[in-house]
Amino acid sequence: MHIPLEDFSMAYTDKGQGTHLLLVHGFPLTRQLWKPQIDSLSDKTRLLAPDLRGHGESSATPGPYTMDLLADDLNVFLDKIGITQPVVVCGLSMGGYVSFAFYSKFADRVAGLILTSTRAAADTPEGKQGRVEAAERIRKEGISAIVEGLLLKLMSPETYKKRPDLVSQVREIMEHVSKEAYLGDLMGMKERPDARSMLSQINVPTLIIHGADDQIVPSQEARTMLASIPGASMEIIPGVGHLPNLEKPEIFNHAVGQFLASFGG
Ligand code: MLT
Repeated sequence: MHIPLEDFSMAYTDKGQGTHLLLVHGFPLTRQLWKPQIDSLSDKTRLLAPDLRGHGESSATPGPYTMDLLADDLNVFLDKIGITQPVVVCGLSMGGYVSFAFYSKFADRVAGLILTSTRAAADTPEGKQGRVEAAERIRKEGISAIVEGLLLKLMSPETYKKRPDLVSQVREIMEHVSKEAYLGDLMGMKERPDARSMLSQINVPTLIIHGADDQIVPSQEARTMLASIPGASMEIIPGVGHLPNLEKPEIFNHAVGQFLASFGG
């Protein structure tokens, strides 16, 4: 399905009934990331999975795509499809950065948070420099300049070795992201604010899920968030990298299902 927002058309999946779960994908991915959740959780949950601007089937605009801009898009999206009740926001990696921006702007819309493979800290100077260099390569050579290198880091070494089918699936997802979005995300993430000071003020139920072998965001970042968010719980999944919902969907779905059960229907 597509819905026109202010300056682009947003593609999304809306499936199931129950507690509303807004699924926010990471970089450079699309809502296809959430297929194992959309397939398995729709009997107890209404899953809302948009493609962020420029990703998948959503149309692109020139960047930067700041985390605030992407959060504003989600706010307009919920309005346009008539969602008035608070939603549980589940963000993976960059989707987690967007979830922090969404919570700080629209706390009334948030019933709970699922922070997956993400961190609250801003980029280090080296991290910012890495983004500038990646963007430079993409401008000159196209997205293929970074896809294979990034793919090697997205999943755990174990998944990479044993699941060539999954590796191909993720490559295909990465190839369905526009060049504008690669550049827009990189520049937006580079400028994102440090969210650590807001952690102690989060007052909705929060679940943190992280892969023990995440090569992009070390699992220590999850422990830091756990220590600062009041009442948060955490699931560290062994043998899993940056994409726990794809690498071990049964464990991920079980943790999410249990968390959602506490919200009633
Ligand atoms: C993501 O998975 O969304 C990104 O790798 C996050 C990042 O680059 O900081």
